[in-house]
Amino acid sequence: MKLFNGMTVKNNELHVSDVSVTELKKNYRSPLYVYDENFIENTCEIFLKNFSSSKFNTKILYASKAFSCLEIYRIVSKLGLGLDVVSIGEIFTAKNASFDMSKLYFHGNNKTYRELEFAVENGVENIIIDNDYEHEIINDLAKKYNKKIDVLLRINTGIDAHTHEYIKTAKDDSKFGYSIYDDKIYSLIRDIANQSNLNFKGFHSHIGSQIFEKNSFFDAVKTVFEFSKSVEDKLNIFISVLNLGGGFGVYYSKEDNPFSLAEFLQEYILVIEEQQEIFGLKLESVIIEPGRSLICNAGSTLYTVGGTKKTYSGKEYIFVDGGMGDNPRYALYKAKYECCLANKVNDKCGNLYTVAGKYCESGDILINEIKLPKAEKDDLLLVSSTGAYNYSMASNYNRITKLPVVFVKNGKHRLVVKGESLEDLIKNDI
Ligand code: LLP
Repeated sequence: MKLFNGMTVKNNELHVSDVSVTELKKNYRSPLYVYDENFIENTCEIFLKNFSSSKFNTKILYASKAFSCLEIYRIVSKLGLGLDVVSIGEIFTAKNASFDMSKLYFHGNNKTYRELEFAVENGVENIIIDNDYEHEIINDLAKKYNKKIDVLLRINTGIDAHTHEYIKTAKDDSKFGYSIYDDKIYSLIRDIANQSNLNFKGFHSHIGSQIFEKNSFFDAVKTVFEFSKSVEDKLNIFISVLNLGGGFGVYYSKEDNPFSLAEFLQEYILVIEEQQEIFGLKLESVIIEPGRSLICNAGSTLYTVGGTKKTYSGKEYIFVDGGMGDNPRYALYKAKYECCLANKVNDKCGNLYTVAGKYCESGDILINEIKLPKAEKDDLLLVSSTGAYNYSMASNYNRITKLPVVFVKNGKHRLVVKGESLEDLIKNDI
């Protein structure tokens, strides 16, 4: 398993930010999500430092669908980031974390009236319009609350980035956004710009997630600028904000070859500046929305080994005390992860195992085939890079309780989300 910054091995045991896995299990419970707070802060700094320009303002929004809870909102808020939110639940969480609501950007392809009203009522000032019915509702709400709302239109650039089918978002048949190749988009923009309580600011584009090809991002930038210019020319409407989304790929396993974030961000800025030079938009700010790349490698999941089993066909399983309920990504995308036996890190990896969970489903696999030391009952098994889209996509399948979340920093640990109790499981049952 790749050891990320902050992971060390002492006495054959894995430590995260100087806290040993045994200590974590002893103080909390197993399974458990563990986040390295220094890692999160350093990654935020990389974004803030490298995505900046003297030609326009830049903003970093944390795409909080990757991992949302009060404490992560407090941390990114303190560091000066904004938030990409996609539901009333994420807005509610941000409000309760005392986030500056004017720094929230509300996305989604089917925001309900209740969600939009909650957003406007609670001071969300930036809404991304996905389709042709939303702008009238938002305008009516803005009037009702006597506000002016800044809006962006989500556009689909048709850029087919190389990633899993389920997480591509800019294909021609995507459910997200409005295609720039559909001529009706110009009348939609005019309609939005004519709404009295809306400030039409520009466009939002997000081409997909877990993308490794820099050129996909650069091509998207070029397309967005060219389209923006065509809008300025055709409609005499100025584009002052461009939100280019997230999607930067990260390392999960040896198959992934991510670019250096700092280098990429610097190149990205240069490409944007170059396009600005060519097209001369009345640009005020350029926004990006990293989710996975900001949080994924900061998080791991700690499990305890139960049994092992060698099947009739010879496949050897390690069973752990969690599985698809806390990490559905193998079941959904055949996502690949790495792990280690965290109390035997330096032992020889001589056994080929498949790590399976405890859920009633054959697809409840965490890692299909990985070489590890011989596993025994009560060994601790840590799966790395589970910081994004694990906790946030967890379920209670089989009525198994959701895991606690612990943050560690320089030898200290603290609970930031309690694990669910059995009572929690029935609290809404009547
Ligand atoms: N902005 C928008 C509008 C998005 O839809 C997303 C992700 C992001 C930003 C952040 O993308 P990121 O930087 O995290 O790649 N559940 C899937 C990922 C779904 C991504 C959805 N949108 C998974 O587990 O891989």
